[in-house]
Amino acid sequence: MIIAIDGPAASGKGTLAKRIADLWGLPCLDTGLLYRAVARDVAARGFRLDDPWAALALARSINAGELCDPELRTPKVGDGASIVARMPMVRGALLAYQRNFSAQPGGAVLDGRDIGTVVCPWADAKIYVTATAEVRAKRRYNEYVCRGEPVVYEAVLADILKRDERDSSRESAPMRAAADADLLDTSELDIEAAFDAAVGLIKRKIGQ
Ligand code: CDP
Repeated sequence: MIIAIDGPAASGKGTLAKRIADLWGLPCLDTGLLYRAVARDVAARGFRLDDPWAALALARSINAGELCDPELRTPKVGDGASIVARMPMVRGALLAYQRNFSAQPGGAVLDGRDIGTVVCPWADAKIYVTATAEVRAKRRYNEYVCRGEPVVYEAVLADILKRDERDSSRESAPMRAAADADLLDTSELDIEAAFDAAVGLIKRKIGQ
């Protein structure tokens, strides 16, 4: 069974994806980490983030087994990720890895922006997770504070709005809900309630 979880920045899709994967005993891939790793590597080598050839070469050499670097979660790398993610060549280079991951025996859960539309349009269940920008910014702000990152709420909100705009307006695989995705607005739901709602939607979709 393949489950696609998409949605904008800090919508809670990552946490939901991991819990859903645990429930069904499936492997889980946070595809945002792939784009974040490309952005980190492009910047670390001194290239411009919008240099397509540098980004392509580094996207091809990503070691997807090593995505637990804490630097990947910083606001700067997240912003860079949405710049490298605009380039079709970068998206193409990361597509095969994502599709191979989804094709494991038994299936997988993948979360991102284009899983239901481009990476796995044949997924058995698709959820598009949303929440208001203010709620998402507050959640992301709290995450940064817990990790000891120096941040200001207004800056986190501005970053989220900028990334939403970049991700939804790009030509290549823009962020959007697949026509057959179930929408889940978590603005007023805590993680438990969001998880219960997501499980209900998936069970209905797969006829359990
Ligand atoms: O965790 P958060 O929702 O803030 O971001 P993420 O999922 O780690 O994704 C970081 C950036 O990578 C996004 O803003 C997108 O530009 C890009 N991305 C993408 O284009 N396609 C995906 N499937 C996943 C992420």
